[in-house]
Amino acid sequence: MTLHTVFFSGKGATAACAHCVKNAIGLPAKLHNWMKKPPTGPVDIPAGDVLLLAMPVYAGFIPAICRPWVEQLQGHGTPAVIAAVYGNRHYDNALLQMQQLLEARGFRVIAAGAFLAEHSIFPEVAKGRPDKEDMDAMTAFGARCAQLLADDWHNALTLALPGDPEAQAPDRKPAGMYPTANKECINCRACSDLCPGRAIPRARPQETDPAKCVQCGACIAICPMQARGYFSDSWKERAPVFAEKCAQYRKPEVFFVK
Ligand SMILES: Cc1cc2nc3c(=O)[nH]c(=O)nc-3n(C[C@H](O)[C@H](O)[C@H](O)COP(=O)(O)O)c2cc1C
Repeated sequence: MTLHTVFFSGKGATAACAHCVKNAIGLPAKLHNWMKKPPTGPVDIPAGDVLLLAMPVYAGFIPAICRPWVEQLQGHGTPAVIAAVYGNRHYDNALLQMQQLLEARGFRVIAAGAFLAEHSIFPEVAKGRPDKEDMDAMTAFGARCAQLLADDWHNALTLALPGDPEAQAPDRKPAGMYPTANKECINCRACSDLCPGRAIPRARPQETDPAKCVQCGACIAICPMQARGYFSDSWKERAPVFAEKCAQYRKPEVFFVK
């Protein structure tokens, strides 16, 4: 039994969550890091294996870039564990969307978790998350998934998850919310080479094509000079307002089939 651990993570929190849950489930794992290598064709996951899908929450859904990749996954009554990592505003429809996409493709979602992390656009929001309690919650979630997988989950009812089943992911991004580089940039092009949207030209890595940027923040995380970030006036105006709106400490939530 192999645990196919699939994740997309710009700034690292979703990757950390995927690893923590994977370790707690404790099965031999195959990692599918979609930031480095997204699928180029169908990915078959047999009935006797398990899928762990961990996604960051973007505007209440999974990142738009990941949706066609999720649609490449093919289950055969395969059990799936899903995790959404969000920046203390809300995860809205992300878990439900993952469940709908996976169950349409032959998976049975048996457990779901919504976990907290620093907001990757507004890092003052949920600063320091995931904290120890968050990591303990991820470990406990994985351990309970391991028990569930060992039990007979086959006859369980469909997992009821919060969210609006009719909701559609927005097709517009807020203006001015994409990272660029300041004068510390040394043209190493690590960001251009990693960018999943191919939004940073190799010839001018200080620039970003707003139409192509998926806002994942991988360029900020990988920059060896800390030269990349959000510098626009609209970001500066929005950051304190958003931080105040999202100041309340939210806790992880977990759901299991019965
Ligand atoms: C484009 C974008 C949209 C986001 N939308 C939400 C959201 O709707 N709710 C929320 O709580 N956090 C939101 N976040 C914050 C991320 O979900 C959070 O920071 C997550 O940990 C990022 O994962 P990563 O560290 O693996 O990149 C958003 C982040 C980005 C980049």
